[in-house]
Amino acid sequence: MTRTTPELNDPVEEHRALHGKESLIAIAGHPLHAMLVAFPIALTMSVLGADLLFWWTADPFWARAAGWASFGAFLMGVIAGITGTVELLVVKGIRNRSASWTHFILAVMLLSILGANWGIRVGDHVDAVLPLGLLMSCLAAGLTAVTGWHGGKLVFDYQIGTKSIEAPAGREP
Ligand code: HEM
Repeated sequence: MTRTTPELNDPVEEHRALHGKESLIAIAGHPLHAMLVAFPIALTMSVLGADLLFWWTADPFWARAAGWASFGAFLMGVIAGITGTVELLVVKGIRNRSASWTHFILAVMLLSILGANWGIRVGDHVDAVLPLGLLMSCLAAGLTAVTGWHGGKLVFDYQIGTKSIEAPAGREP
């Protein structure tokens, strides 16, 4: 006797109200979050670069550069995080997908590390670099890569934050 597998239903696909995933926090249709995340990503990598250059050269210039870059990474990360969070809470189709919440959890962990990596440098940016600052920069760079990759997955795999285009009459999308 052959057994047939029961057909599985996707509860999100079944509810039309959850189909809308278009970004609301946008300028002329261009999502602000996607525009802003480039800053914390680039600045976090810059902190790691400056820490490594300080380790190599012992030039306090690099420790000061890392201090300012860590402040910029945290500040811009929080601003980007606010736009992402508003999007997450306001758009029903984004809020109801678990992948969006996975990205949120990764991002909040990243923002706390970015804040701590800046905090330890306030007051004594030179002594803070080795070894703790450098270790935190490595952790922040790794988590930034994971969070950024996952953000791209939201857009490219799940079409979160994208506009759905109606297919012209008589043509499949
Ligand atoms: C703190 C809360 C955050 C939330 C709730 C959030 C939410 C989202 C959402 C909903 C999207 C889909 C596109 C859109 O709707 O704009 C997205 C995309 C993305 N996010 Fe976040 N995000 C957060 C923080 C971050 C941070 C700190 C980074 C930096 C590493 C980041 C990196 C990205 C990237 C790279 C994309 C893909 C952008 C694209 O290719 O268009 N997100 N995020």
